[in-house]
Amino acid sequence: MRMYDLIEKKKRGGELNHDELHYMVDGYVKGEIPDYQMSAMLMAIYFNGMSDDETTFLTLEMARSGDMVDLSPIEGFKVDKHSTGGVGDKTTLIIGPVVAALGVRVAKMSGRGLGHTGGTIDKLEAIPGFRTSIPREEFFDIVGRVGIAVAGQSGNLVPADKKLYALRDVTATVDSIPLIASSIMSKKLAAGSDGIVLDVKTGSGAFMKTLEDSVTLARKMVAIGTGAGRACTALITDMDVPLGFAIGNALEVIESVEVLKGKGPEDLREVSLRLAAEMLHTAGRGSAGECYHMAEKTLRDGSAFETLKKMTEAQGGDVRCLENPELFPQAAFTSEVKAQQSGYIVHMDTEACGIASVLLRAGRSRKEDEIDPAAGIVLCKKYGDRVEEGQTLAVLYASDRDLFEAAGKKLLDAYRISDSRPEAKKLIYARISGSGEVRYEA
Ligand code: URA
Repeated sequence: MRMYDLIEKKKRGGELNHDELHYMVDGYVKGEIPDYQMSAMLMAIYFNGMSDDETTFLTLEMARSGDMVDLSPIEGFKVDKHSTGGVGDKTTLIIGPVVAALGVRVAKMSGRGLGHTGGTIDKLEAIPGFRTSIPREEFFDIVGRVGIAVAGQSGNLVPADKKLYALRDVTATVDSIPLIASSIMSKKLAAGSDGIVLDVKTGSGAFMKTLEDSVTLARKMVAIGTGAGRACTALITDMDVPLGFAIGNALEVIESVEVLKGKGPEDLREVSLRLAAEMLHTAGRGSAGECYHMAEKTLRDGSAFETLKKMTEAQGGDVRCLENPELFPQAAFTSEVKAQQSGYIVHMDTEACGIASVLLRAGRSRKEDEIDPAAGIVLCKKYGDRVEEGQTLAVLYASDRDLFEAAGKKLLDAYRISDSRPEAKKLIYARISGSGEVRYEA
């Protein structure tokens, strides 16, 4: 077999078979296929797409390129959740403890922020002392004792994705549905859970900007998951507006704790409860409606918050911070972004809100950048709100005053204000499962 012939076949719109995809992934990971040939293949896939079979075979080959985690030493049904990435998306910090408090195990491997989107590992590391790098045996032990552990990807998990993602990043081939689906699902399959709930974001702050693209991506990922023998469903949720008010690592942990205490922003609480209900339903705990009420109860009775505290303690984090937010790292400076006109907020460029937080150093511009756990934004006004000229739209937090000018301008430009009140937005657009698709009206 020759890589040249596979590129030629894909260029002409042909379908690669399992053997060919095995040859390609294996050869690339071993360094036998050079970056220039793989770049040409990625661009051919970008333009010609991949069938469901091709995407599934590519995903399986990527998943098997390194270690496959065996979670069988942990008793019971293990369920995972993955978000395609968003701004202010801190749902894992809420959902994980909710589900674990109800006895469903969560052995979660999470990532760091990517581009304008945040990552759970960066958020957890804002809790002083919290260890996200833990040996496999200890990770299993914490899941067994507490019901949940969240760690960064360790060992040799999906090396094919590490190499391919880095190449996609510099060859303008990230935004390809089969490549995103195989990248995400290879990591989920290798992580070993029995059930996988996908939170596919849609809107201006998501990788997929349109509902139709998000549905196509969700269908592909669900097909891969169920084809690989996992219980897999997806919810399409809104990312046209940041989720909650806080963007930035310590600020987001503080906001998540508010929700776990039965308070917090309504949109964040609702999306978290719907995803938690989906995970519980996947684990066979009842109908989606019953599971929603069970999840809600863990916020009311404090059991989900207790579970977050136990996980934090087990992973070395300072639990006192969760009760006393002033113990989190604090930004030295704040700055207010003021509205330049009166009216209703009719649009928020959510990707730009994420970039503004990166400019404050809440995220990374380059892979090797250090992030500032205290930095970020607290929005005071969001989509649909009425605002008067001179009123505060958001408060910025940073450790260096010089960062405010560029970040403030970016954030101000992200808001569009107009005279007429916009229509309310849905939070959940659709549910995709192996047996079909439901679109929600409101
Ligand atoms: N997240 C991933 O893990 N992979 C992609 O390709 C895009 C988002």
